[in-house]
Amino acid sequence: MAKINLHYGDIKESYLFSEIAKRVNEYKENHPDADIIRMGIGDVTQPLVESVVDGLVSASKEMGKKETFHGYGPEQGYSFLKEKIVQYYQSEFGVELDPAEVFISDGAKSDIANVTDLFSNENVVCVPDPVYPVYLDTNLMLGRKVVYLQGNESNGFLPLPTPETEGDIFYLCSPNNPTGATYSREQLRVCVNFALERDAVILFDAAYERFVSEDLPRSIFEIEGAKKCAIEFCSLSKTAGFTGTRCGYTIVPLELVRQGMSLNKMWLRRQTTKFNGVSYIVQRGAERVFCEKGLSEISAVLAVYQENARIIANTLRELGIWFSGGVNSPYIWLKCPNGMTSWEFFDFLLDKARVVGTPGSGFGECGEGYFRLTAFSTKDNTVEAMRRIKTIL
Ligand code: MLT
Repeated sequence: MAKINLHYGDIKESYLFSEIAKRVNEYKENHPDADIIRMGIGDVTQPLVESVVDGLVSASKEMGKKETFHGYGPEQGYSFLKEKIVQYYQSEFGVELDPAEVFISDGAKSDIANVTDLFSNENVVCVPDPVYPVYLDTNLMLGRKVVYLQGNESNGFLPLPTPETEGDIFYLCSPNNPTGATYSREQLRVCVNFALERDAVILFDAAYERFVSEDLPRSIFEIEGAKKCAIEFCSLSKTAGFTGTRCGYTIVPLELVRQGMSLNKMWLRRQTTKFNGVSYIVQRGAERVFCEKGLSEISAVLAVYQENARIIANTLRELGIWFSGGVNSPYIWLKCPNGMTSWEFFDFLLDKARVVGTPGSGFGECGEGYFRLTAFSTKDNTVEAMRRIKTIL
């Protein structure tokens, strides 16, 4: 008999965003004329920038000619893109990387999930609560023990480990999904020192780094010692509109060694065995993001989302609703008004304002009573959603 992984029974029946999509579709069936504004899943609305499109088009043409056709590429990514990312880390964060530390992926979500391969199931995994469900579910699927760092209004939803905290593997996300809160250098130093002291590994999700507009760290490797204890995941999904195009990158430092094994070598071994790399065409498009023109074009797109975040934040301020994020982040994490639970507020907002958000409780127990809105909508829809919200609250 084929024995199945019974740990799938330990996770929620459906993924949070699939559940939301299901409920919205049901609502639409009953209210076919409802003009719904979606501010739930963090999916972008602005198209790819011109430089990226040019890169994709010319690479597609290369693929159509015998002389320039590409078959299998390196599983860890083409050098032309890895070199650009090395330069980006140098110029944006002052962090020196070796190209061998950069691995091109089809996005942060898959690498964050796949990295579980490198670690024994005996590890205790520490995740913040609220948490991006992928960190939690992928470990529960393997039957690992998970402990939580509790986020709340008093710690600004930026929980830190203390000497009593259990854990060998630590997930951190800054700017944070879902709370929009961003760790300071001092706070990240606490996390890095904590990991170094106990030979733990930090899995740092930097998918939203480009939204940081204040003087706050954007890469864990800005913190001294982090190369000895951290892996960083990044994605072009939110910064360059690649949610549908798919490209990200993971930095596994050469200095990261546990039990005498190099995690960089292990990751390379894993990728060469289980992954055939990101398509040449997509990597050529991604390369253009890191050119001068591409960076300026994506900054203009991010400015749209940053303005949306400001519009949402100003509305909540006017309404006297507590929130975090909205600056340095495309997410706004708010306290549900009138003591509503997260799902009550979801239903209320959908029904009365035709606005979809994400219930905070979907991100963990500490998220109950909170709600997440994204700034990834269009400006018109953001303004309209806020107008509707003001009329019902
Ligand atoms: C989110 O809405 O939390 C993100 O879009 C999910 C993701 O990046 O996978």
